[in-house]
Amino acid sequence: EKGGYEHFMLKEIFEQPKSIHDTMRGRLLVDEGVIKMAGIWDHVERFKNANRIIIIACGTSWHAGLIGEYLIEEYARIPVEVEYASEFRYRNPIITDKDVVIAISQSGETADTMAALKLAKEKGAFIYGICNVVDSSIARITDAGSYTHAGPEIGVASTKAFTAQLTILTLIAFKLGKHNGTLGNAEFMSLIAELDAIPKRVEEVLGTTHELVQNIAKDFVNATNFLYLGRGYNYPAALEGALKLKEISYIHAEGYPAAEMKHGPIALIDENMPIVIIAPKKGHYDKIVSNVQEIKARKGKVIAVVNKGDQQVSSMADYVIEIPETSECFSPIVASVPLQLLAYYIAVYRGANVDQPRNLAKSVTVE
Ligand code: M6R
Repeated sequence: EKGGYEHFMLKEIFEQPKSIHDTMRGRLLVDEGVIKMAGIWDHVERFKNANRIIIIACGTSWHAGLIGEYLIEEYARIPVEVEYASEFRYRNPIITDKDVVIAISQSGETADTMAALKLAKEKGAFIYGICNVVDSSIARITDAGSYTHAGPEIGVASTKAFTAQLTILTLIAFKLGKHNGTLGNAEFMSLIAELDAIPKRVEEVLGTTHELVQNIAKDFVNATNFLYLGRGYNYPAALEGALKLKEISYIHAEGYPAAEMKHGPIALIDENMPIVIIAPKKGHYDKIVSNVQEIKARKGKVIAVVNKGDQQVSSMADYVIEIPETSECFSPIVASVPLQLLAYYIAVYRGANVDQPRNLAKSVTVE
């Protein structure tokens, strides 16, 4: 049932070209220039006229939510806030019937997310679900929603569910943007064509980085700390990369927006600190270059995720992982793949139980 892979996690990482494709199937109609999503379309005025959209989630799904905020604000120009479900529910949040609350949950059973949704519903908000598990509790109590269709995810560390969540959020942002008139037709058409090709990009990145990342991982088996840095859309991708490593390898890792480095974490950098930097060309590249210079001046070990043909960051980095160039909004999907592989192989070389890490459960049904 692991399809020849040693672990479910690796199988699920490799399933991503298909799972992303499945998530778009029947929704993204490139030739017609249409995104079909009944859950959004039936309530499109609620979204359009919302005071704000509040995204609630936990863990990896919360990271997807942060990227959702960038997407929806950039393309649909609707204000978005992203909250940890556990914080939101206990702080008497200000919610009205003009708000739209989106819950993101792979399992659809997370206790805090469920409770936060119930609260939002009581206060009259329109509640929308993005779940992977069909007919799960969250899917059932929401007013409407979109399933991710990533297929069953068995590994405790979420991988294909995450990229499927990003795919759904991208579709929602583009659909709302087109409807609101904040995303012009020409840009819409070129973005959806690019989105349609993302499964291919992911396939490509799996092929070109698998062995390379496996080798890089060998050098970090004894690391005790890691920093992950990114900017813009790739700041949440950095958080997610760090979470993956923590969960399965038990190495302490932190994700940071790269510019925050000088507000504290830079003090940690010495020759023993590995730093993963996500630095695609379309994503504040020049700013990242200076972050890398600051790190190298302190002898940090840089593992850089860059676009093919990159020179500036690559010339300074200790390890270079190349990914294909995309519009910035798609880069977290593509960049996440080698980071999943890196966490996976470090954990495997440390002899950790990758699919069932200690202390963790696939769905957290108690708060
Ligand atoms: O099922 P959910 O998406 O609601 O789960 C939320 C988190 O518990 C989950 O993403 C957790 O952080 C994963 N183990 C991450 O890999």
